[in-house]
Amino acid sequence: MSDVLLQTKDLQLAFGAVVVADHINFSLRAGERLAVIGQNGAGKTTFINICTGLIQPQAGQVFFEGHEVTGLAPRAIALRGMVRSFQLPQLFNEHSVRDCVCIAAAGKKNRLRIWTALQDAVDPADVDHVLDMVGLSQRAHDMASALPEGQRKLLDIAMALVMRPRLLILDEPTSGVSSEEKHGLMATIMRALDEQQVSAIFVEHDVDIVSEYSTRVAAWIAGRIAADGPPAQVLADPEIRANVIGD
Ligand SMILES: Nc1ncnc2c1ncn2[C@@H]1O[C@H](COP(=O)(O)OP(=O)(O)O)[C@@H](O)[C@H]1O
Ligand SMILES: [Mg+2]
Repeated sequence: MSDVLLQTKDLQLAFGAVVVADHINFSLRAGERLAVIGQNGAGKTTFINICTGLIQPQAGQVFFEGHEVTGLAPRAIALRGMVRSFQLPQLFNEHSVRDCVCIAAAGKKNRLRIWTALQDAVDPADVDHVLDMVGLSQRAHDMASALPEGQRKLLDIAMALVMRPRLLILDEPTSGVSSEEKHGLMATIMRALDEQQVSAIFVEHDVDIVSEYSTRVAAWIAGRIAADGPPAQVLADPEIRANVIGD
């Protein structure tokens, strides 16, 4: 099917006796907003790490837009259009907000060379547009290290979006952000994704955020997908309520 963006076939991985990917067969279609839920240690980040090439599975395969990407380097996978963010934003702290986005954009064009001025390597309008989308235009000339956590998350997302991904995988985008700020942060992220027509997978613990911003929920328990379906169905599933949501 041409609109399947990401597919995994029988992914398996164990760290010693701990099984973190237990025969994971999964697929995501273009346009979906998938929330991944699961207790700490369930294997959510490991799944993202396998899909984006950061770690290799012991068995199984990953396909992006129909092409196998298992074993490719993270950078090669990102260049193909599957980009991820980390739970703790990976920023260039000693650079300005704008330069962080420029560095990411130059990386996409493979033009990051010490003899090329950063400004010459990227399209400035592109960089300004991405900063505007995530609401960071006013902070463009501040140091990345000066941003509060919510804006650090947005800068991380701006750096991902400037790579023009078709799938963005967000590992706990609202962690470390106060509960009052979470909705605003997610609304900004989702607006930017809509504008760029980017599909998304996001790991999230807050059930309200999951219900509001996902079109589908997959629940991880001990390295396997225990439930996968519409948010209302998965969030009402007794096994998920008992073992994942914790009520
Ligand atoms: N590189 C590693 N070496 C050994 N164990 C690991 C490694 N990475 C993760 N784990 C273990 O794998 C399990 C799943 O981790 P992780 O995928 O980070 O869970 P989650 O993101 O759902 O909280 C945890 O028990 C964790 O301690
Ligand atoms: Mg994690």
